Amino acid sequence: MFIPVEEALKKGKGRVSIHGWVYRERKQKDMIFLVIRDSTNIIQTVVKQDKVSKKEWDEANKILIESSIEIEGDLKEDKRAPTGYEIQVSKLNVIQFAEVFPINKDQSPELLLDNRHLWLRSRKQTSILKIRSTVFGATHDYFRKNKFYEFQSPIIQSTQAEGGSTLFELNYFGKKLFLAQTWQLYAEPAIFALEKIYCIAPSFRAEKSKTSRHLTEYWHAEMEEAWASFKDIQDHGEKLIKHIIKEVIENNKEDLKILERDIKKLEPSLKKDFPRITYTDALKLLKDKCKIKVDWGKDLRTIEEDKLSLLYDTPIIVTHYPKIVKAFYMKEDPKNPKVVFGCDFIAPESYGEIIGGSEREPDPKKIISRLKEQKENPDNYKFYLDTRKYGSVPHAGFGMGVERVIAWICGLENIKDAIPYPRTMLRYTP
Ligand code: 4AD
Ligand code: MG
Repeated sequence: MFIPVEEALKKGKGRVSIHGWVYRERKQKDMIFLVIRDSTNIIQTVVKQDKVSKKEWDEANKILIESSIEIEGDLKEDKRAPTGYEIQVSKLNVIQFAEVFPINKDQSPELLLDNRHLWLRSRKQTSILKIRSTVFGATHDYFRKNKFYEFQSPIIQSTQAEGGSTLFELNYFGKKLFLAQTWQLYAEPAIFALEKIYCIAPSFRAEKSKTSRHLTEYWHAEMEEAWASFKDIQDHGEKLIKHIIKEVIENNKEDLKILERDIKKLEPSLKKDFPRITYTDALKLLKDKCKIKVDWGKDLRTIEEDKLSLLYDTPIIVTHYPKIVKAFYMKEDPKNPKVVFGCDFIAPESYGEIIGGSEREPDPKKIISRLKEQKENPDNYKFYLDTRKYGSVPHAGFGMGVERVIAWICGLENIKDAIPYPRTMLRYTP
């Protein structure tokens, strides 16, 4: 019976059988060290010429890294081994002799991306993938515990929601349609049935900018809630992020260690309230503390978000943005029609906007006039405008960029490492 490497390490002694891939190999005259990797960890094994058959010894000599093998042997503590234990091999069975692996140490990021299908098995990528799995699980967890239903919207859509400049067009039997930028316009009608809904699905943005935080295909965790206020969704966003971080710290300590991510950088977000500041106050902060002047009415750019983020050790929630920089569906502040009940969560350490949300504009006339300002034909939005005609209620929602959150939690330099097969303007293979 094969046991996972991690279980063998816990067992610490005795006879064990494991199977996995050769992570490192070092051949000496009468001894071969094979470090074996499986999804759980790595362990050193040693094949001694006088302890195995001639056939096994000859095979061991042909093994290159990433060969798949099964071994049986005696396990004991060995402080010199990379994970503190070593198995002396008595039986060895090679499942497949790997060819020379195209990736070795110190490769360029582009070569690693060209070989992403192979690079997935690196220890770092494996750890990121495990954390990614925790983040998805924690998101489902959070919403389901709070009695949200999971609801799906179409990926093929006939309208835009987040501005025409990042729309991917699709030739749909000769008709121009789009890939989803968000589920939102299809989610709002569904709250009249389910009231509290959420979804995790891919969203698409034709981002032409080459930045470390934009993908063209990313996973979007969105929620929409009937009867909810602007404050309610900020509370949900904050609690969701806290829950995700708690789960990662509890379940992925080893992975964070492999990624050399300092948990102390994440802990404040668990313990402290996220500061909530208005856009107007954010401009004051930028001016006073960062010596950056932004004219009122201009959207915050990456550099400004980054400067703001460095003033805090938790995400901050920037609220009440100017109406002109935000989407057509955001509710106008009744006290100040120049601003909307929209918010962005800016992650610390310059990881950028991780959540965007708002209370939704209830007045169909205001929505129509803002659509027209954006040169959109309101007739195309009839299905959406119906939400304001038949039992309209206050409601609000947000969308969280899952890879942005993963990049931040893992301390990654580039968002491309937060998703197994990244898609950007220049990267679409493998
Ligand atoms: O701020 P955005 O555009 O908001 C919406 O799409 C709303 N309809 C969400 C809602 O209220 N249901 O996008 C939401 C989040 C951003 O805060 C960001 O984290 C992420 O999606 N995001 C991206 N992540 C990776 N690559 C991109 N190109 C992204 N664009 C947005
Ligand atoms: Mg946004």
